[in-house]
Amino acid sequence: MTKLTWLSHATWLIEHGDLRILLDPFFTDNPAAQVQADDMDGITHILVSHGHFDHVGDVASIAKRTGALVVATFEIAQWFEKQGVSPCGPMNVGGTVPLDVDGITLGHAKMVPAIHSSGLPDGSYGGSAAGFVLALGDKKIYFACDTAYFSDMKFYAHGVDVAVVPIGDVFTMGVDDSIQAIQRIEPKLALPTHHGTWPPITQDVEAWAVRVREDAKCEARALSVGESIAIE
Ligand code: NI
Ligand code: MN
Repeated sequence: MTKLTWLSHATWLIEHGDLRILLDPFFTDNPAAQVQADDMDGITHILVSHGHFDHVGDVASIAKRTGALVVATFEIAQWFEKQGVSPCGPMNVGGTVPLDVDGITLGHAKMVPAIHSSGLPDGSYGGSAAGFVLALGDKKIYFACDTAYFSDMKFYAHGVDVAVVPIGDVFTMGVDDSIQAIQRIEPKLALPTHHGTWPPITQDVEAWAVRVREDAKCEARALSVGESIAIE
């Protein structure tokens, strides 16, 4: 069983066996967050999709306190290592890494392309922006992360069990392009992300879910902040 919890914005907690994976933790100065960085306990891995403040802001403090392995592009991993975050798991787009707990591999993370930028908050170069395909047990979950729609999504993620796609628009693809993406990915379930945090990226998520069901013939759920869904 894999449990996905939306912690607002683009922040997800992914639990599978002894894995407790945080994706793009953003709590400090996040008006939609209902928990804070200090509430994150027992985290085994922190996946970082790109260098923007709303994805890296709370990574260092959580990694230092919990000992979580930070998995990010080579450049972002180096940036965190300079801040005393260790260990870091540098990788790059196209690569796959094991997700281990106590030396036992419980899943894999593949870093896949995203069309976005990735400058770090202090102006450092963050490498390429990325998404992730997680393989956990017999399930695959695609986190598109911050990205425009691009047709090769279907190459990396076709037929996954869950596709988590941004719908907020302005900084990522919006509702219309998310439908295009889901039509080509053909996941069993689609979940929205990167929406509702601030007025420019607020969307009618229930209307989005209706459109996914009707236009993409795919089940869709819009989680509220803090809500979880079990994938089994
Ligand atoms: Ni971004
Ligand atoms: Mn973002």
